[in-house]
Amino acid sequence: MPAHLSNEQLIQTAKEFGTPLYVYHAEKIKEQYQKLTNGFSILNTKFFYASKALTNINILRYIKEIGCNVDCSSINEVRLALHAGFEPQSILYTSNGIAFSEIEEAVTAGVHINIDSLSNLEKFGKKYGHSYPVGIRIRPNIMAGGNLKISTGHEGSKFGIPVEQLNKIEEIVKANNIFIRTLHIHTGSDIKDADVFVKGIEVLFELIPHFPELEVIDLGGGFKVPYIPGEKETDINLLAQKIKETFDNHPIAGGKKFQLWFEPGKFLVSECGYLVAQVTVLKETAGAIFAAVDSGLNHLIRPMMYDAYHHINNISNPTGKLKSFTVTGNICETDTFAANRELTEIREGDYLAFLNAGAYGFEMASNYNSRFKPAEVLIRDSKAKLIRRRDDMNDLLKNQIELG
Ligand code: LLP
Repeated sequence: MPAHLSNEQLIQTAKEFGTPLYVYHAEKIKEQYQKLTNGFSILNTKFFYASKALTNINILRYIKEIGCNVDCSSINEVRLALHAGFEPQSILYTSNGIAFSEIEEAVTAGVHINIDSLSNLEKFGKKYGHSYPVGIRIRPNIMAGGNLKISTGHEGSKFGIPVEQLNKIEEIVKANNIFIRTLHIHTGSDIKDADVFVKGIEVLFELIPHFPELEVIDLGGGFKVPYIPGEKETDINLLAQKIKETFDNHPIAGGKKFQLWFEPGKFLVSECGYLVAQVTVLKETAGAIFAAVDSGLNHLIRPMMYDAYHHINNISNPTGKLKSFTVTGNICETDTFAANRELTEIREGDYLAFLNAGAYGFEMASNYNSRFKPAEVLIRDSKAKLIRRRDDMNDLLKNQIELG
């Protein structure tokens, strides 16, 4: 029986802490992590949780507690990971488009680094030479992922050093005697197809002979989880098997024992999270019955930003009659969470739970319309604990300088 929170637990938590509320279920994170470690036990693998998905410090500490490492996409995420108690060797900083000063800080902290531009690679080589092992992020020119906005490995993408610039990479590496320990690719998010990862490895195979000190192949994140009922998640066992075969069968890689790294975000925390909101207004019109909630695109932007589907449960009336509703937020924009969706009958005051809200939910929230960011609660061993209080007026004013 997969770990999930019951409607009663969610309602009780919403009553205790108010809405809108992000609720996370610790045991679900652990369940997902175990799927990864079990599936990949046939290979020498390390997982680095892509913390950009959800950085609450208590989530980071839980991730550490279950034995997972952490991947960061900004120097502040590195600082948060250190604050959460991760050892520098458990922290990876996969950079993109950043100032070299952030790389310097990451080196001082002693964390693993993946560099994604020739410019920073050259600066790195000049300053550190062979003294600090480093990774290079390659753009493999592969189209993958749920939609273009979250596809990062294709020919038009800003991410990574294009694979066709191998000569230039080699020139810089040789001139500065850089210790290239890792080759990294991340092609996108929501990737169900195991073959995409195999294709990525095949691109890297061309590069492997050029970097004799290589120890790690980092394939990034992007494993898919179900958002729409009936959808399947990436088959981790199959993926591990295919990756193992790909390495075993390759003449160069077969003899070499690379460590394999992954950076899963959604896979670990998407399904653990629920955004619980309360219905504020019902509005019947000729085209739709609108149900407005006390939340909006300021709290969960994925439907508006990516046309992402988030399943909605009317947890106050789970057995009600099915009827078509358009669920919207209260933001002064068209913030439609679901258009003409069949839901069990909604009444004003009902609690709605938005599923898959753990990854890129709170993390992408803002104070747009001067609304408060929601509180966050972690449920572990059936006990609910507040892990972030709701904003108040002080939060809206705290950085403003009043000119009198
Ligand atoms: N590694 C790197 C280098 C990444 O850029 C990302 C995600 C990950 C790992 C983790 O990917 P995941 O396992 O979570 O798919 N906000 C978007 C997703 C953006 C992903 C950005 N990079 C969304 O809500 O769909």
